Amino acid sequence: MSRHLEVAIFVWYTTVLLVSAKPKQNVVKSYSELHKCELSEELKTEIASYDSVVNDIIDFAVSGPFKGRAYSELERFIDTFGPRVSGSEVLERAIDHVINITRAEDVKDVYTEEVEVPHWVRGHESAELLEPRRKSLSLLGLGTSVATAPDGVTAEAIVVHSFDELDAMDNDKVKGKIVVYDQPYVSYGDTVRYRSQGASKAAAKGAVAALIRTIAPFSIYSPHTGMQRYSDNVTKIPTACITLEDADFLGRLYRNKEKIVIKLVMSSTMDTKTSRNTLIDVKGTQHPEKLVIVSGHIDSWDVGTGAMDDGGGMIVSWAVPIILKELNLRPKRTIRSIFWTGEELGLVGAFAYAKKHKVENDNINFVMESDEGTFKPLGLTVGGSQHARCIVAEVLKLFSSINATALVEEESPGSDIVALVSQGVPGAGLLNANEKYFWFHHSEGDTMNVENAEELDLCAAFWTAVAYVIADMSVDIPRK
Ligand SMILES: *[C@@H]1O[C@H](CO)[C@@H](O)[C@H](O)[C@H]1NC(C)=O
Ligand SMILES: *[C@@H]1O[C@H](CO)[C@@H](O)[C@H](O)[C@H]1NC(C)=O
Ligand SMILES: *[C@@H]1O[C@H](CO)[C@@H](O)[C@H](O)[C@H]1NC(C)=O
Ligand SMILES: [Zn+2]
Repeated sequence: MSRHLEVAIFVWYTTVLLVSAKPKQNVVKSYSELHKCELSEELKTEIASYDSVVNDIIDFAVSGPFKGRAYSELERFIDTFGPRVSGSEVLERAIDHVINITRAEDVKDVYTEEVEVPHWVRGHESAELLEPRRKSLSLLGLGTSVATAPDGVTAEAIVVHSFDELDAMDNDKVKGKIVVYDQPYVSYGDTVRYRSQGASKAAAKGAVAALIRTIAPFSIYSPHTGMQRYSDNVTKIPTACITLEDADFLGRLYRNKEKIVIKLVMSSTMDTKTSRNTLIDVKGTQHPEKLVIVSGHIDSWDVGTGAMDDGGGMIVSWAVPIILKELNLRPKRTIRSIFWTGEELGLVGAFAYAKKHKVENDNINFVMESDEGTFKPLGLTVGGSQHARCIVAEVLKLFSSINATALVEEESPGSDIVALVSQGVPGAGLLNANEKYFWFHHSEGDTMNVENAEELDLCAAFWTAVAYVIADMSVDIPRK
């Protein structure tokens, strides 16, 4: 793993911690009123004048020629390629396909930039409860987990409900054991640290493996995978998520003083491969050097098909240049659509982009990312200064016909865009009705069945029109 990659993963991991430390989101419908936004009447009138072009875009995508197109392209993409693991050949073919379908629309300014990405491949995985009774345990190894010995590891298990509980234990009690975390699900941001740090914390006390209650609010016996990171100076121990049901079951056995013995067998390989970020530019008519970015990631986990995470986000970002082309709309600034690679293994493509384009990052006016579902759009989560949010809130008033006017303040509105937003670039994520997102996330359940054609049309319309207005209006979105 390259040093740059280590840095990227570290920043990603730190971000996860920062996100987890934040208070709950607060939906503010009339942001402008609540924050006493003081935009000039001139600017308000100018923004309001985009009403007809916004409605043209919405009509085109929701009831016009583009209707159903985001879903049908996603269906073709997902059913042809399936899951697209970072560093895999199928991911590279999927990238070629997106380039091909873009050129087929007569959108020619599509190109790629190479990125070294980690390539972690899951092998055979099984877990069996041997005592107090035999039962197989469904599991999914976590990204970057090491393998067990070929014949597995068989050990007694202890169950904890929090890191504090583990910290309070004598190392003697943990040494040689499998640590099972049966932590409650609070929110993804709060609870994901058990996945990302659980193995390291257990290994630091001498554990031989770590099994983590899957990071989801709901389950029909499904484990969810995801990235984890070994701290420096700990023994790398195998680690996996188990289902909510089994984690709670083991928790009950442990509470009832049963001796728990588990046999765990896991194999995996890890190396580095070359992948590509994919970029499509709609060149600005007046300020081509200034950028508004729309984005989603093209890689996925190996389980399920990555239709939701992040096929939907990628396809609505792909729709932006296609819809603008068909409507013959070219904004004053350049709109760049980016499909990041290597997101799931540590935001690798996004960090590579931020580094490679360092000199032009001052020209990024606004960066948008959709990676938390493309269900019914509700508005945007927005990071940046209050003045920046006031302007965006004014733009969102244009979306009352589809009820997508909400603005939620979010210091870090997206995972892949953190590299840019942390440098002060104003950014936004797609706020959508994604209450069930983490039911499917990183699991076998992430398939086309989760996606909905009408909702994708609304997202494509919203994403295109927001990007167009921000790229075309007379003022830049101010920085902090
Ligand atoms: C993309 O188009 C090229 C040139 O027509 C073709 O050779 C290639 O097979 C296509 N790739 C995919 C994945 O569709
Ligand atoms: C890890 O171990 C090395 C060598 O013993 C030491 O220099 C370094 O400070 C340690 N790092 C941490 C985070 O403990
Ligand atoms: C927007 O909300 C109104 C009132 O609740 C509802 O009648 C309308 O169908 C909604 N439109 C969309 C596109 O969801
Ligand atoms: Zn994602």
